[in-house]
Amino acid sequence: MLMNSIEYWAMNNPVRGFVQRHYEAPRLRRLSDGSANDILEIGCGQGAGARVIYDLFSPQRYVGIDLDPRMIRRARRRSGALPNATFMEGDVTSLEFPNATFDLVMDFGIVHHVPNWRDALAEVHRTLKPGGEFLFEDLPVETWERGIGIPFKRIADHPYDEMFREQEFVDELKALGFDVETHDNSPFSFYHFWGRAEKLS
Ligand SMILES: C[S@@+](CC[C@H](N)C(=O)[O-])C[C@H]1O[C@@H](n2cnc3c(N)ncnc32)[C@H](O)[C@@H]1O
Repeated sequence: MLMNSIEYWAMNNPVRGFVQRHYEAPRLRRLSDGSANDILEIGCGQGAGARVIYDLFSPQRYVGIDLDPRMIRRARRRSGALPNATFMEGDVTSLEFPNATFDLVMDFGIVHHVPNWRDALAEVHRTLKPGGEFLFEDLPVETWERGIGIPFKRIADHPYDEMFREQEFVDELKALGFDVETHDNSPFSFYHFWGRAEKLS
């Protein structure tokens, strides 16, 4: 589901890049052994995540996909010099990569945009190699029913009727065959969760 104009502005703002670089990405990196060579970022947005991923993981190959062609154009412009980085339009619920392509899949706040989020997680599982990692930072139903999530719910377009609770997200990952570790937090009353899932087979 594409972002509305308010969220589009919020996601293409230097503040978003700052939060991703200094808050979200380092704590995901701490959950990982950092050995991934082939990395897929789903919903890569403006490309700020790509630059952080190169700094923290030094991948041999990176692919960023996003449903929104405007974001892909921005990402290409802003991340041009990254070695072996590719940005392409794509839908996380129907990825065009063969089975077992990636060592690591990164999710910086995208799966809550996807009405059929179970299909998205299944695609993450399919395209990961056995032993591969899914590192995620996302916003479940709980985000929008408390604290500052309540006013944000009125201004951002998300598929609230189909959205997952944190436990549903974890249960789905386990059912797919992941070993899962999660954490959650509410700085400034903004509930969110993050974690690591390892593909067992
Ligand atoms: C909240 S933004 C996050 C962008 C970026 N990851 C960040 O953290 O700044 C969600 C992104 O997911 C993309 N998106 C939404 N649905 C998608 C889908 N089905 N497949 C791929 N990308 C999708 C949107 O276009 C948007 O760029």
